Amino acid sequence: MRRIGVLTSGGDSPGMNAAVMAVAKAARYHGMSLIGIKRGYNGTLCRSHHVEDDMVELDLDTILDIADQPGTYLRTARCLDFLRPEMRAHAVSNIHEMGIEGIVVIGGDGSYHGAMELCDLGIPCVGIPGTIDNDLAYTEMTLGYDTAVNSCVDDIRAIRATSRSHDRPAVVEVMGRHCGDIALKAAAGSGAEICIVPEVSWSIQEVADRLARLIDVGNPRATVVVAEGAWDSMQPMDWHRYLRENGVRVHDDDPITTAMLAKILKFKTKAEARPTVLGYTQRGRTPSAYDSWFAFEAGSLAVNLLRNGIGNQVIGIKDGRVYYLPISMALQQKREFNLSLYNLINSL
Ligand code: F6P
Repeated sequence: MRRIGVLTSGGDSPGMNAAVMAVAKAARYHGMSLIGIKRGYNGTLCRSHHVEDDMVELDLDTILDIADQPGTYLRTARCLDFLRPEMRAHAVSNIHEMGIEGIVVIGGDGSYHGAMELCDLGIPCVGIPGTIDNDLAYTEMTLGYDTAVNSCVDDIRAIRATSRSHDRPAVVEVMGRHCGDIALKAAAGSGAEICIVPEVSWSIQEVADRLARLIDVGNPRATVVVAEGAWDSMQPMDWHRYLRENGVRVHDDDPITTAMLAKILKFKTKAEARPTVLGYTQRGRTPSAYDSWFAFEAGSLAVNLLRNGIGNQVIGIKDGRVYYLPISMALQQKREFNLSLYNLINSL
């Protein structure tokens, strides 16, 4: 291959730039030119006024400067148009026109589906799991997950310091979509006493009882870490009515939030529980050493696979080593939630 492309797609994750740098280094080493495709699959559709907003030749010097930066230099987006076959055909003709012979796709499971479609249309693709969520079963860690967990642990430590000063509990929401892994590791890493995740059914009453027990035994400043997807596994409770009875104005169609949960816990335990949603701070950090290492090895392996004519693969970590397997096999694997760690956090 003489020319390859690279794109970042879906939610950004720390380490995406480092992976692009590794791809750029490996491409140069093997004498290939590299095209950066902008805003995920959108770039392949070439709809911008200026071509460099869609596809641009990447010069290694620029990439070296951004390798340690958080975010993604190539920009990222979700591209619903790519679900339409006629748009994918249009993308393939643009890719051919640019002389791109293979693509490194850095993103999560949605991006992998796009990569499989491109492979079926004759464009070899290799995926790198760029998402903080750690929701891909075939890899021990996704790229950005370690940084996101470290970011949460730092922030929860800060919250616990002020909780301690005021002797009051904290309820902290972390990201992860439908996956509780960020919550689990962040809770374990920060010494949080209660963890709520989408994988395990829970009730507000049970959390309130546990918090009340902690307060009883002399810990009035416990931390509850809640995964953003945990509302899906919450047992039904008429919390709208409960809050109204306690003088809080809520509409029947208001969804439950971390702030509401903190209020309910406050009424049930009489402790001043305070909410914090960590949000995008988890995605915008400088990549950890672990993520930078993974990005480096994954990026260079991706280029090696493409130059050897091996497409339709994704890269992951198994037994601490970087490896690859076919995309379809990777997507078939079922995630196994670490229930014993969950039980440990919630029981000790
Ligand atoms: O998939 C990564 C992620 O950060 C999730 O944890 C979160 O639910 C989602 O993206 C947020 O996406 P957006 O950037 O569209 O708000």
